[in-house]
Amino acid sequence: MTQPVLERTLVMLKPDAVARGLVGRILQRFEEKGLKLVGLKMARLDESLVRRQYALHQEKYFYEPLVRYMSSGPVVLAVLEGKGAIAVVRGLMGPTFGPDAPPGTIRGDFGMSKRFNLVHGSDSPQAAAQEIALFFAPSELQDYDAAAFNWTYDTSTGEIV
Ligand code: RTP
Ligand code: MG
Repeated sequence: MTQPVLERTLVMLKPDAVARGLVGRILQRFEEKGLKLVGLKMARLDESLVRRQYALHQEKYFYEPLVRYMSSGPVVLAVLEGKGAIAVVRGLMGPTFGPDAPPGTIRGDFGMSKRFNLVHGSDSPQAAAQEIALFFAPSELQDYDAAAFNWTYDTSTGEIV
């Protein structure tokens, strides 16, 4: 199956990002890159949902602290759209933990911990589709014209470049 030109991805600003008052600054990174915001909400993840989301780490030593971390406070959920959005968002986030992440990335600029890492982004088209559907009803994803679209990409040839 061919992938659509514009991809959508789920971003979660984790409880440490909300508690540290970094929501605006982190969302700004994505907006100023040229990603289009199509969904946004605040939520508190219950423990059973976090356990399911991170089931792949179930056997790891950090699983219980990870579950506590992710269910310890509210998160902000966003759906972002753009060409190659999944990889672009992962690049803006940087490597998993702040101390290892280069300056200029979100984790590199804002994080010190090897557990709290501020942000999550879907890591594949399958994960993005599943995570968007988990957190957003179709009616919560907004369809609108981004005014700067024709300056974010070259659309003059009929393609989005
Ligand atoms: P994420 O899934 O949250 O976007 O982050 P990621 O791909 O960069 O990292 P992943 O390997 O998928 O790990 C998921 C989350 O588990 C926590 N973690 N803690 N050693 C530890 O204490 C440890 N290792 C992983 C992090 O919160 C990581 O984002
Ligand atoms: Mg991951």
